Parts: sequence; structure tokens; C-alpha cells
Amino acid sequence: MASPRLFLAPVLLFAWSAGTQLRFANYYGDHMVLQKEPSCAIVWGYGTPGADITVTVSQEQNFTMKEIAEVRADFKWKVILSPMASGGPYKIEANQSYKQEVSNVTLNDVYFGDVWLCSGQSNMEMTVSQIFNARQELAEAKNYSLVRVFSAALVESDAELEELGAIDLPWSVPTAGNLGHGDFRYFSAVCWLFGRHLYSELQHPIGLIDSTWGGTPIEAWSSNRALHACGLSVDTKRNLSLDPIGGPKSPSVLWNAMIHPFVNLTLKGVIWYQGEANTIMNTDLYNCTFPALIEDWRKAFHEGSQRQTQLYFPFGFVQLCTDRRVAPDDNFPRIRWHQTADFGYAPNKKMPNTFMAVTIDLGDDHSPYGSIHPRDKQTVAYRLFLGALAVAYDKKRLVFQGPYPQTVQVDAHLGLLKVTYNEPIELRQLSEEIFEVCCSEQPVCKWTPVSIKASLYFSVFLLNIACPRTVLGLRYAWMEWPCEYMLCPLYNLQNLPAPPFITFAKNNPAWIVW
Ligand SMILES: *[C@@H]1O[C@H](CO)[C@@H](O)[C@H](O)[C@H]1NC(C)=O
Ligand SMILES: *[C@@H]1O[C@H](CO)[C@@H](O)[C@H](O)[C@H]1NC(C)=O
Ligand SMILES: *[C@@H]1O[C@H](CO)[C@@H](O)[C@H](O)[C@H]1NC(C)=O
Ligand SMILES: *[C@@H]1O[C@H](CO)[C@@H](O)[C@H](O)[C@H]1NC(C)=O
Ligand SMILES: *[C@@H]1O[C@H](CO)[C@@H](O)[C@H](O)[C@H]1NC(C)=O
Ligand SMILES: *[C@@H]1O[C@H](CO)[C@@H](O)[C@H](O)[C@H]1NC(C)=O
Ligand SMILES: *[C@@H]1O[C@H](CO)[C@@H](O)[C@H](O)[C@H]1NC(C)=O
Repeated sequence: MASPRLFLAPVLLFAWSAGTQLRFANYYGDHMVLQKEPSCAIVWGYGTPGADITVTVSQEQNFTMKEIAEVRADFKWKVILSPMASGGPYKIEANQSYKQEVSNVTLNDVYFGDVWLCSGQSNMEMTVSQIFNARQELAEAKNYSLVRVFSAALVESDAELEELGAIDLPWSVPTAGNLGHGDFRYFSAVCWLFGRHLYSELQHPIGLIDSTWGGTPIEAWSSNRALHACGLSVDTKRNLSLDPIGGPKSPSVLWNAMIHPFVNLTLKGVIWYQGEANTIMNTDLYNCTFPALIEDWRKAFHEGSQRQTQLYFPFGFVQLCTDRRVAPDDNFPRIRWHQTADFGYAPNKKMPNTFMAVTIDLGDDHSPYGSIHPRDKQTVAYRLFLGALAVAYDKKRLVFQGPYPQTVQVDAHLGLLKVTYNEPIELRQLSEEIFEVCCSEQPVCKWTPVSIKASLYFSVFLLNIACPRTVLGLRYAWMEWPCEYMLCPLYNLQNLPAPPFITFAKNNPAWIVW
């Protein structure tokens, strides 16, 4: 019995010294945005066990709300506020009384609005100062004083943390300085631009939490539960930290340190830009690891917030852009496909309430940060924003997805293929190679380019000389760099590109052979 006590003593000492001081958890702060109605925002912190805590929400002299709690034996207290309409500023005061001792802590300039968490690797980490039109974007930061920003610091941990290990940018009113603090530091350009679009449309405060780390695989952001669902585990995979570039590769270490602390906060949703690191690691597991991460984060945030964060909260993501013009493998197209759980579009049956920004047409081989870091983040964020409006804000009739094929008709005599999409298409460019057919399967498909000849309303016509009678499969944009900037062949009338797809004739009712 002696050794556990020796082990526990320092932990208790630490908790005791941390606990006597009344405080909020470290990611609460002045200028923050808390989640508005219909959900309830959660406020928690540390105090003296047994003490009474009173949390008041007030607007200048106007008292709004009072909630009470008792500090638990583990030094934590927590209140669930009543649902708040959007607006502010509010003062939130926590008042502790224990025996004769009274103390209080205060958050000032707090607003209620929608809180979005932005995560992923370097393309989400890229700051506003690194993108096209940076100077103007930075100069306009002050126009959006009700979009509030917060950035977690780079920390990894072997155990799930309750609070952040460190904070790069505490809750702040946006300025040119904190939106462009330094390359790949803070603040995330995609996160910022997404948030300011939401603000302009919805006209209520938006809170943005940036928790990102470049060069990190999905395994690092996945809990042990999520890894386990895909046959991975913390132990067997701990060894994949071979690539010295970028952030940690070990499983769960960023989930533990940079995501888990937020599970007790009420959120509106998440946006995610990650996958590049998995083009060289567990690529063909991504169709499992990504849906598993989404499901696991949803459960964890729902439970951690005592059901205040919706179980199926909206989850948006960016389908990978381009890197190499000539690639020795098809890892990028495979990851793009797996990002949709092999459906090709989102939301889908395995990924409900998700939305996807397609970016195969935003390649930028002159980017000073390397072609893997394209600078047009405005278009990325705008496409995400459209998805959010449709999926998270119920704009049911908004077109937010590019065209996706419904049927493939094969005319074996003329050697024509007619691909019919689910919405009208704009043919922006003819191409001799972006569509490819599979002519034989020995032992795997040999893909041969077919040329686009014309389009009409919902359909595009392809000439297949290679194998008019025996076409077994068809794919589109299955290349690392399928088209030039904004010049893919196929868009819809709203300027959204058709996503890549791959489809096979075998047992597929969408294929019609004449
Ligand atoms: C306080 O509440 C009153 C009545 O609801 C309102 O007229 C007034 O504007 C409020 N003051 C502030 C500072 O919000
Ligand atoms: C804080 O607690 C003290 C002692 O219980 C009480 O007198 C005071 O009114 C409280 N303040 C607020 C804002 O609740
Ligand atoms: C909060 O604490 C300060 C001293 O730190 C004290 O002046 C103030 O009266 C306290 N407020 C309340 C409401 O107890
Ligand atoms: C931002 O504010 C500046 C003045 O500070 C104004 O000239 C400009 O038009 C504003 N831009 C937007 C997009 O509102
Ligand atoms: C981890 O990798 C190193 C170097 O590749 C190897 O020597 C070691 O056996 C591996 N450890 C485990 C637990 O797989
Ligand atoms: C993921 O993709 C791989 C490779 O295409 C495939 O073998 C596997 O069955 C897929 N897994 C899931 C869960 O769809
Ligand atoms: C935060 O959520 C975790 C997981 O549900 C829970 O164990 C923990 O007690 C929560 N923290 C607080 C302060 O309630």
C-alpha cells in the first residue's frame, strides 16, 4: 500500500495548491464567445472543495442570471447557464464563499453567439498573413470585432488533459497583429475567413477556437476509442514517429492535449483541414479513421458538455488540394476519396451532418510556403461557409455541393459514354485526360484517358476509343493535380467544382449499357 501513496502525494499537493485559488478553467477569458441558445453554455473552473459558488451573468448594472454550484472533491465546479439569446457584452462573475472567506473572479466583455472549433494540420494552421490578399484581409480585421479568436498552443500529452497545457492567443478581439502573428502560428486563415463569413451572414457573434498542428496525422488527433474502431491502438502504433518534419505523429497525443480539454465547452460545430500527413501513413485506413474520429468527437463533446453540444453537431472539412504536378502514386486521390468514406460527397450515410469544401481546383505551385500550402484560402473558406449554411444553419435550398454523377450510359457501338449529373453543369474546359476508363482488370485496372467531347444540361459526353465494348470502370480527376486554377472541366452553375469520383460497372445499377 505504500507505493501508491508515494505516487499520489505530489498529485494531491498540486491539486490542493491549484484548488484553493478560485479560477475559471484556463480557456475561459475576457472577450470570449459562449454558445448561444438553444444550447446552454457551460462555465467551469477550480475552487476549494465544499465551497459554494455563485455565477452571475450581468450586463452593466443589469442583472441577468444567477446559477449556483458546489466545488467538488476534485476541486472542480461547473454551472450550466440558462439558454442565452445572441448578444452582449456581459460580465460573468464567479463568487466563492467558504466558511468566512469570500473571493471572486470575473470575465468581461463576453458575448453569446456560435462557437466553432477549427482543427487539422498546416493548411488549417496557415495564418491570414500567408494568404493571397493578406494585407487587405488584415486591414479589415477590425471590421469584425464580434468575431472573437482563441488559439491553443502546440502541446502533446500521453494522457487526456482537463485544461490546455498552454495558450498561444487568449480570447481576443481580432486585430491585424493577432490574425497574422507569424507563419503557421496564429491565427488560422481558413478558420478566420469562415468565421467572418458566418458573422456577415448571421449578424451574431462568432467565437473561433484554433487548435491545429502542422504535419500531423489523423491518428494523433484520435482517441484510443476511435483508433480501436479501426483496428489501431496506442501501443502498436506508437512507433510511427519516423518523419522528423512537422508535429507529433504518435497516436492520441493531440486528442489528449489539444481537443479533449474542450469537451466541457458547448460548441456549435467543428471544421477540419487535415489529411496530407496520411498520404504517407495509413492511407487506406482513412475511410475508417476519419468517420471514426467524427463519431468519437461527437460523443465526447456531447457527453462532456452534458448534452449541450448536439450529438450530431455539424462537422465541415476540406477535401485535399494538390501538391505535386507529377506524382509517382495516387495517394492524394485515394485520401480525397477516403475523406468522404468512399462516397465521393458529403454528407453521406456514414458521415451524417457533415459538409465538404472541394479544392482540387485551387492548386498554387508558386506558393512560397511550398505547393502543398496553396494561398487561396478565401475560396476554401467560402465553400465551407456554404456547406455550413446548408447543414448547420438549415438553409435547405442552398446549393452547396458541386455536381455528382447519377448514371453512366455506355454506347458500345459509337464508343460514347454519357455521364449524367445531379445538377446542371457548366463545362469550363475540354480535357483529354481528366476522365479515365478501366478497360481490363488483369490483375488491377489499367486506366486509359477518354476525352470530353461536349456537355448538355446535366450530362457530359466522353469518347472512348480505347475499349468501347468492355469498359469496366470510370473515374474523374483521379490525379494529384487534376486541373489548373479555377479551371477544372466541370462546375455547377454556382461555381462549385465537381468532386473526384471512381465508379465500377459491375453490379452497379447506375451503369446502363446499350
Ligand atoms: C438594462 O435593462 C433595461 C430594461 O430592460 C434596458 O432598458 C437598459 O438598456 C439595460 N441597460 C443596459 C446597459 O443593458
Ligand atoms: C458573493 O458571495 C458573498 C458571500 O456569500 C455575497 O455576500 C455576495 O453577495 C456574493 N456576490 C454575488 C455577486 O453573488
Ligand atoms: C470581488 O472581489 C473584490 C476583491 O478582489 C471585491 O472588491 C469585490 O467586492 C468582490 N465582488 C463581489 C461581488 O463580491
Ligand atoms: C472595413 O472598414 C473600413 C474602414 O475601417 C472600410 O473602409 C471598409 O469598407 C470596410 N470593409 C468591409 C468589408 O466592410
Ligand atoms: C520502434 O521503431 C524502432 C526503429 O524503427 C525499432 O527498433 C523498435 O523495435 C520499434 N518499437 C516497437 C515497439 O515497435
Ligand atoms: C477503405 O479503402 C480500402 C482500400 O480501397 C478498402 O480495402 C477498405 O475496404 C475500405 N474500408 C472501408 C471501411 O470502407
Ligand atoms: C469534462 O468532461 C469529462 C468527460 O465527460 C468529465 O469526465 C469531466 O468531469 C468534465 N469536467 C467537468 C468540470 O465537469
